[in-house]
Amino acid sequence: MVKLSGLFGAVALLPALVSTYALPEACSGVCTNSHDPSILRRSDGTYFRFSTGGRLAIHTAPSLAGPWTYKGAALPGGSSINLPGNQDLWAPDIAQVGNQYYLYYSVSTFGSQSSAIGIARSASMDAGTWTDLGSTNVASSPGLPYNAIDGNLVNDNGNYFLTFGSFWNGIHRVRMTPTHQNGEAYQVAFDPGNTAIEGPTVFKNGAFYYLFFSKGSCCGYDQNRPAAGKEYKVMACRSSSAVGPFVDRNGKSCRSGGGTTVLESHNWVYGPGGQGVYQDPTNGPVLYYHYVDTRIGFADGQKKFGWNKINFSSGWPVV
Ligand SMILES: *[C@@H]1O[C@H](CO)[C@@H](O)[C@H](O)[C@H]1NC(C)=O
Repeated sequence: MVKLSGLFGAVALLPALVSTYALPEACSGVCTNSHDPSILRRSDGTYFRFSTGGRLAIHTAPSLAGPWTYKGAALPGGSSINLPGNQDLWAPDIAQVGNQYYLYYSVSTFGSQSSAIGIARSASMDAGTWTDLGSTNVASSPGLPYNAIDGNLVNDNGNYFLTFGSFWNGIHRVRMTPTHQNGEAYQVAFDPGNTAIEGPTVFKNGAFYYLFFSKGSCCGYDQNRPAAGKEYKVMACRSSSAVGPFVDRNGKSCRSGGGTTVLESHNWVYGPGGQGVYQDPTNGPVLYYHYVDTRIGFADGQKKFGWNKINFSSGWPVV
């Protein structure tokens, strides 16, 4: 905050410092325990929310606004993937394929490229009904040009793609069967100036496929607060094809640092990210994410579930 006085008497020349972002919509019930949320509404109207930690915690609610209730872990025994991190599963992504639900998840540890994207299956999404199917075969080890975490499945007219990755050469995508890798991985987004991009979500609206991702420092803000502007935020690129090439609002390639900011710290919201985008039957296109409420605290365990309706009328997502 700049203190204006004396010299800068002509304040009328300065634009008002008004946030352009909407505050998160209401959330009641359990709105914490929502790191890297992934949401899907079942045909009976029950919303399911999956999140990082607690062996993929499941919460349900009658609406996005809640009240959210904890139901248990999707994989109480952890993952069968034989890698460090298989009891601390990250970044779930829920998808319905035919009459089955698939939950994609990451096995990794901080700072390690020894990672894999696993998959579990259920016919209902309820706690106690998930079967771990192990690895999708989308996996990485030191030396490969990507890190196999943060998968997001997109169904493009029966062609399935998993968009995934972070920190090692950005975000990649690979064709899927849809349960397993079915082709080579290639890069869709990379920022040579700040390689901390991750958590992709691909969402189709109108004529475009939008690639949303999180950029910046995700976690541990209570221990180690990044410089202002280096904390998590949500960015987007778009393409007329599900597989790219993706560009930002200025036409800059998202493989060379492009990306248009969709949501960043504002008001009492800090470090929003880990987002997903959902075509909600009730609210239309919705961006959901986790964030720090600066009025509560900066620890990862204090992060809250946020969501906003997306306005695509300009051709770019606005919340
Ligand atoms: C969406 O944004 C446009 C401006 O781009 C505005 O005119 C319109 O009212 C907005 N729609 C809603 C539902 O807020």
